[in-house]
Amino acid sequence: NKGKYEHYMQKEIHEQPESLTTTMRGRLIHGGSSKAKTVLLGGLKDHLKTIRRSRRMVFIGCGTSYNAALAARPILEELSGIPVTLEIASDLLDRQGPIYREDTVAFVSQSGETADTLNALNYALENGALCVGITNTVGSAIARKTHCGVHINAGSEIGVASTKAYTSQIVAMTMLALAIGSDSISSEARRESIVDGLVDLPSKVREVLKLDNEMKDLAKLLIAEQSLLVFGRGYNYATALEGALKVKEVALMHSEGILAGEMKHGPLALVDENLPIFVIATHDSCFSKQQSVIQQLHARKGRLIVMCSKEDAASMMNVGKYVRVIKVPHVEDCLQPVINIVPLQLLAYHLTVLRGHNVDQPRNLAKSVTTE
Ligand code: UD1
Ligand code: F6R
Repeated sequence: NKGKYEHYMQKEIHEQPESLTTTMRGRLIHGGSSKAKTVLLGGLKDHLKTIRRSRRMVFIGCGTSYNAALAARPILEELSGIPVTLEIASDLLDRQGPIYREDTVAFVSQSGETADTLNALNYALENGALCVGITNTVGSAIARKTHCGVHINAGSEIGVASTKAYTSQIVAMTMLALAIGSDSISSEARRESIVDGLVDLPSKVREVLKLDNEMKDLAKLLIAEQSLLVFGRGYNYATALEGALKVKEVALMHSEGILAGEMKHGPLALVDENLPIFVIATHDSCFSKQQSVIQQLHARKGRLIVMCSKEDAASMMNVGKYVRVIKVPHVEDCLQPVINIVPLQLLAYHLTVLRGHNVDQPRNLAKSVTTE
């Protein structure tokens, strides 16, 4: 049931304040002055000790689910102190990469049925690793076969392009990071501010959704373009990859997410006065580096669309001319990817409708990829 919306993708983008609320429901311990602010993940509480003792954590997924793990990696590393590596499921299988008994391996999947991810799970089980699921579908193959896990509880997702599952996956993995790190005193203040940030997150997502009309206007400007580059780094490298994936899969426009730190190692050659470039430059520890990227793109006359924190918008205007400046609410750094993907989801949606393509059933794609 699409309710007041025309498409499921549109509905699922707009219901993110609610889906994020259900992801966190009953899992945040917050309020009550004597109690520490922390998280409780029922499915993991008996396994946290084993996870903390593991030598390495490996997160495995495909497409958007891989991107969600990429978005959560910095906070997982920071709060756990355990090395975190990422694997695209098919690539791990192609290489038969090493997985050890001492590893904790997490499988990220909305459907819980993706063939490559499921095959990687069977492979990790054979190798004796502790296997954790981050899934949206209760009773799915991956939820059943993992030793333990977290249901992200985003509600069923019908549009082929994953939107609300992505933001709920990031939040679930951030809660996982908080749970693993919960025995550390030195990170307590950091963890408490993240819990506060999680509590406020649905209302911040509601705020960023107000950019809907602005993103529709931007889509009108970009309607006839051949290509769109998306630059991000740090917490928002994943936002660049995921934004580009949305644009290519539904709007059928070539789009590429680029790690801004790699700009000079090739992508800079593409920059000219015609190609539109979306730069994510919200306020975090990478901000000054990202400002210098913007200056260098300006120097090559790049057509820039800049996403920045509201507080930085004025100073951004001093740097140069832009096609658009997209102002987003500022949240805790590790939660910023949840905010920043929303305008890109809206852009992909509007581009698709304006270009006359099928939003909910992009050509050649299936919601659940059950073959290799
Ligand atoms: C569970 C209940 C929830 C109830 C809550 C009350 C289910 C599905 N969830 O939620 O309805 O409100 O207790 O305390 O009945 N698991 C995996 N792999 C996965 C995902 C989950 O093995 O990919 C396992 C978990 O380890 C756990 C079980 O499935 O044993 C349920 O997981 P989850 O729904 O995340 O647990 P709770 O949040 O505690
Ligand atoms: C993109 C998209 C796909 C899926 C991928 C994994 O919008 O939906 O890239 O993310 O096929 O699917 P799940 O998460 O079901 O394993």
